[in-house]
Amino acid sequence: MDKLTKLCLDHTYLSERMAFFEKLIEAIESGDLENYIDKIQFFIDEYIVKHFKFEEEKIFPMIIQHGSPEEKMMVQELQQEHALILRKLDTFKEKLLRYNSSLLKSDVETIIEASKGIVRMILMHAQKEDERLFPNL
Ligand SMILES: [Fe+2]
Ligand SMILES: [Fe+2]
Repeated sequence: MDKLTKLCLDHTYLSERMAFFEKLIEAIESGDLENYIDKIQFFIDEYIVKHFKFEEEKIFPMIIQHGSPEEKMMVQELQQEHALILRKLDTFKEKLLRYNSSLLKSDVETIIEASKGIVRMILMHAQKEDERLFPNL
């Protein structure tokens, strides 16, 4: 794999870029959700969408063409996860846009749980790629 491709596939910055997810409670408490939603949008556009696009256009087709049957199945699974992650991020953003201060404590907890779920899903996806697919490239 060439250096540029390696760099584009690098997931090590992922947790750093996702650190703002941990600041959700702060954002809700300080009433600064607008700024927080902008950060989510930036993360989706600049990291997730571009990164997924790179994998789907440059990496996955290569594996579909030359990979083993298991690798091809893995690509399908990863592609489905991309779609799922994007949908979850969108729904999460929508939830935050509809947020208002009269929400019940349990609603806020649901939002926080959803945010943790998204972080987990993205990290697991990246780990799956790192461990099971990219070492073979
Ligand atoms: Fe991916
Ligand atoms: Fe990735």
